[in-house]
Amino acid sequence: SDRIMLGPLVAAIDQGTSSTRFLVFNAKTAELLSHHQVEIKQNFPKEGWVEEDPKEILQSVYECMERTCEKLTQLNIDISNIKAIGVTNQRETTLVWDKETGEPLYNAIVWLDLRTQSTVERLINKTPGRNKNHLKHKTGLPISTYFSAVKLRWLMDNVTEVHEAVLSHRAMFGTVDSWLIWCLTGGKTGGVHCTDVTNASRTMLFNIHTMDWDPELCKYFDIPMEILPKVRSSSEIYGLMKICSSLKSGALTGVPISGCLGDQSAALVGQMCFQDGQAKNTYGTGCFLLRNTGAKPVMSDHGLLTTVAYKLGRDKPACYALEGSVAIAGAVVRWLKDNLGIVQSSTEIEKLAAMVGTSYGCYFVPAFSGLYAPYWEPSARGIICGLTQFTNRSHLAFAALEAVCFQTREILDAMNQDSGIPLNQLQVDGGMTSNKLLMQLQADILCIPVVKPSMPETTALGAAMAAGAAEGVSVWSLKPEDLTAVTSEKFEPQINPEESEYRYARWKKAVQKAMNWET
Ligand code: G3P
Repeated sequence: SDRIMLGPLVAAIDQGTSSTRFLVFNAKTAELLSHHQVEIKQNFPKEGWVEEDPKEILQSVYECMERTCEKLTQLNIDISNIKAIGVTNQRETTLVWDKETGEPLYNAIVWLDLRTQSTVERLINKTPGRNKNHLKHKTGLPISTYFSAVKLRWLMDNVTEVHEAVLSHRAMFGTVDSWLIWCLTGGKTGGVHCTDVTNASRTMLFNIHTMDWDPELCKYFDIPMEILPKVRSSSEIYGLMKICSSLKSGALTGVPISGCLGDQSAALVGQMCFQDGQAKNTYGTGCFLLRNTGAKPVMSDHGLLTTVAYKLGRDKPACYALEGSVAIAGAVVRWLKDNLGIVQSSTEIEKLAAMVGTSYGCYFVPAFSGLYAPYWEPSARGIICGLTQFTNRSHLAFAALEAVCFQTREILDAMNQDSGIPLNQLQVDGGMTSNKLLMQLQADILCIPVVKPSMPETTALGAAMAAGAAEGVSVWSLKPEDLTAVTSEKFEPQINPEESEYRYARWKKAVQKAMNWET
């Protein structure tokens, strides 16, 4: 039968904490044509440690590419219309590999990992006035286990292979974007070692004002600058896809990789939050609220991060964002499934919670990796409180979903205080937004409407947009009005604000217990 004529297509690799996806969009309409998703195994070798296998991550990308191409062929869509590939990724997750063998020298240390807690405490104690914001004027970030520099330091201090590779000039450091782009563009035979400004801004080695690696920060963490990737904009041709034996079809060979953004930045782009003041919240493993602050980095007084939002072209200006980061969102559902077994699949949580429609006074603070924004307290730990004989697994499920909403409320409040202009609705996206109960609960707890796009893969969309709009590709318009396939759904608050305030106040009490549960 005839091939369908669609014009140019753009693909995106979305390598998240819990899964990898490959998606193909119509560059004219932004319509999602096909995709494939593979779960990623997380290893917890010790309490607080979270690792992933770099090779499994790479293999999952190839598998998703292969399967998506098969699906497109079945749909009679010509794969050779794919004009560009964008990369978007879990941020901060830290890898070191050997540039001569192409082999990773240790597992990827995932952003959630807490092994550097004592290092972080030591660093903070050494600063004047024990100030966790000591490096914030340059990095926009508090000293925390979250960011790459301390993870890289740990690798250099504790893994002989890494230590030796650094000494013999064979080591390459990268976040997941760097690892993937290096491998996909040829690896040890000429791979491109680069990252983009958004990913770089999460390492704690990057100066968000000069927009480059900062020699003083590198010295502070004692990291040799030669192992760092080259920092590029978020939208330009980094290199071309090389032939690879893992890709049977060979179909994508030669396609430019021309977009790269950390996943939260990509979602901001995908939601088309290009104006100062526009914001989005993405519910993935964690949950991240970013508000565009335009060409100026704004420093938070309420525990938010200042981060690079995007830079869509070599000669384009950088845009900044304020970010509220919550470590555990979707991960709490995965925990209920994998560790407690109270649901068989993540989607079951909605039904289970809907059976009761209330937590019946039960509050669940999932501080599994300490607490991120606005507290930045690495020693906080999870707590479930308010239990009675009456509490059952449905209440627990409801409390878990409510925790995601309360955490969002906390970072939204901080954001409103920092900017002085309250958001009057919240744009949301990410896997959990298919949970209608969660969306309604979120609107109820924020007391403002929640708006979700009908196509939830906003992160991938943003990466595809950056790739398609790059100089030398230019198949994608960044004008929102041209993207006709983008529609949305709105959830209005339904409970009265007093009820919502009451529950929020209880939540805050529970948070205090999670922060101080040891004392
Ligand atoms: O900073 C971590 C973030 O980029 C991870 O996103 O979607 O994997 O939770 P996600």
